[in-house]
Amino acid sequence: MKLVRTRSEFFAARAEQLGTVGLVPTMGALHAGHSALLDAARAECDSVITTNFVNPLQFGPTEDLARYPRTLDADLEVCEKAGVDLVWAPSVDDVYPYGGTQVRVEPGPLGDILEGMVRPGHFSGMLTVVAKFLNLVRPGRAYFGEKDYQQLALIRQMTEDLELGVAVVGVGTVREADGLALSSRNVFLSAAERTHALILSHALAAGRAAAHEGAIGVITAATAVLASEPDIAVDYLELRGADLREIPVHGACRLLVAARVGTTRLIDNVGVEL
Ligand code: PAF
Repeated sequence: MKLVRTRSEFFAARAEQLGTVGLVPTMGALHAGHSALLDAARAECDSVITTNFVNPLQFGPTEDLARYPRTLDADLEVCEKAGVDLVWAPSVDDVYPYGGTQVRVEPGPLGDILEGMVRPGHFSGMLTVVAKFLNLVRPGRAYFGEKDYQQLALIRQMTEDLELGVAVVGVGTVREADGLALSSRNVFLSAAERTHALILSHALAAGRAAAHEGAIGVITAATAVLASEPDIAVDYLELRGADLREIPVHGACRLLVAARVGTTRLIDNVGVEL
């Protein structure tokens, strides 16, 4: 496995990667959820490249850019174990040599709902850096977690709408044994907050279990569970079609939740079959 930092080092190392390249873009702070992405890429591609870059463009002015965990040494161990060929950990100047971008990717209507309502500018910043990395790395396949379900949907939409010529692969959420979805932000939770946070996955499970009662039954069941935990502040709980558009009468849906637990904002989602 090779670690490169600068743009020119990256291009030299990229030229050595042959066959189908799988890209796993990350912001570092790797956990078993990222390992699942790396494993999927390793199983399906000749060469696996991962980027490790905390993208300032996708953080709002009041968000946690400065406190976002940066753990490169531990990340490299995870990558080594997963059989990654090339890790690119660029600086902000390497990614944004002109100090940001004048042109950004506009997420469209799918970017205005759910996370987009609470985090203005986030998806535009995220899509812009993903578009840059897709263009810099030129992978055949790119891997993203279902944990950030709206992010995955928007990346799919971008690659289709802009004909980016890459196969986008979604990988299922990895959970702790008690249901907590793995997230780089979980390190911020105190022991008590971690217990409160479990209500998110419990609510989603209750919603999913009520699928036979239809959409209203799903929302009612999940809402009742969330309401039983006073120590979280819910931003939204929504049921949508699997493509995040209208809820079909019968078929694949997604139940999504976001809540603040102390100062940490968590999101989670599950598939629901109506
Ligand atoms: O999911 C993430 O870690 C980030 O949003 C991504 C896709 C690496 C873009 O910065």
